[in-house]
Amino acid sequence: MTRPISWVIGFLFLISLVVIGVLGARLGDEKDRAEQNASKSATQPAGEVAGQIKFNPPSLDDVPEGPKGEAILRGHELVNDTSKVLRSEAASVEDGMNAVNELSCSSCHAGAGMDENSSPLVGVAATYPAYISRSGEVVTIEERINGCMVRSMNGEPLEEDNEDLDAMVAYFQYISEGIPVGAELPWLKQNEMKEVPVPDVAAGEELFQQSCIACHAQDGSGTGALTGPALWGEGSFNDGAGMARMSKMAGYIQNNMPKGQGGSLTEQEASNLAAFILSQDRPEWGDHAGDWKNGGRPKDSMTKELRDQVKDGTIDWEKVLGHKE
Ligand code: HEC
Ligand code: HEC
Repeated sequence: MTRPISWVIGFLFLISLVVIGVLGARLGDEKDRAEQNASKSATQPAGEVAGQIKFNPPSLDDVPEGPKGEAILRGHELVNDTSKVLRSEAASVEDGMNAVNELSCSSCHAGAGMDENSSPLVGVAATYPAYISRSGEVVTIEERINGCMVRSMNGEPLEEDNEDLDAMVAYFQYISEGIPVGAELPWLKQNEMKEVPVPDVAAGEELFQQSCIACHAQDGSGTGALTGPALWGEGSFNDGAGMARMSKMAGYIQNNMPKGQGGSLTEQEASNLAAFILSQDRPEWGDHAGDWKNGGRPKDSMTKELRDQVKDGTIDWEKVLGHKE
């Protein structure tokens, strides 16, 4: 009597295995199909491989003909050679100097933002509007460009309907084509050193004279926006710029400088260099109080007050670098 029962139980068990298997396979199919549909409905990301977005900016040779293409190429020219273009087209020399300093967006976003290792801007149009803690609000791509115009470029903001601003946006949209809105792009915002060692400013000066002056000149005034941009002085960024922070400057230097030898300096050397460069005089940002309205104000922005403290030897680097309260 026991034999048929165990046979029946065994049979039921087998059947349930088959049913589970079939159902499982079906569910799997449906999931695959849903995923396929999802990726079909978004535009196919340039170079997306198995869910990972690859750094793969389009070529300028493929810019379409017509007004849109013209705007993209104008935008590229503006981003790549900002100072030259805006100053040469200004109504007067003085207007040109007020509009923009001697730098170019490419001075920090090399290759007009298409160089993978130097604060690239590929895909950036797909990540805005975004909340920026420095502004304490959600900003558009236009507003973020103007953020760099008034700080990094120590210039004037472009009006909302300005054709050059539209052209820069057209260019950023072109190098963001196919990147899904809101995508996490692993190459953005990579130049921040997490733990900056306490710098030795004198050692930074010595290293600067050895390794940097061929391109950036002995007095830091530079040899050109695209050959060695101004690191301090009137032609450089103001002290409200991201690059005026120890963490961002040290991270940038370690990743990218000396040009062509990124990654060759230690964190200590990069910190020494950043401290030396950021303790030199530069234009002042007019509205430090208006930044970080919702908190989170970093302590490592090298303002005039901190530059003076370096000069008179009273600076407390551990506090500036957040090693202690
Ligand atoms: C002195 C260096 C410097 C110059 C010159 C400069 N930028 Fe920037 N830019 C930065 C830094 C630093 C950041 C912040 C990156 C970060 O958050 O780590 C930034 C961020 C940006 C962002 C936002 C990137 C993101 O991932 O959200 C845009 C857009 C941008 N810059 C556009 C421009 C444009 C356009 C110009 C020229 C008009 C320009 N920048 C000139 C240093 C510079
Ligand atoms: C061979 C020339 C060359 C050398 C040497 C060099 N740089 Fe640069 N540097 C550049 C160029 C060109 C840029 C513009 C961005 C780019 O093209 O990568 C730049 C950009 C920078 C920037 C950002 C732009 C700005 O105005 O703040 C910093 C900071 C910087 N360099 C620091 C240094 C330091 C520190 C050294 C020495 C360790 C150094 N560089 C050595 C060519 C050079």
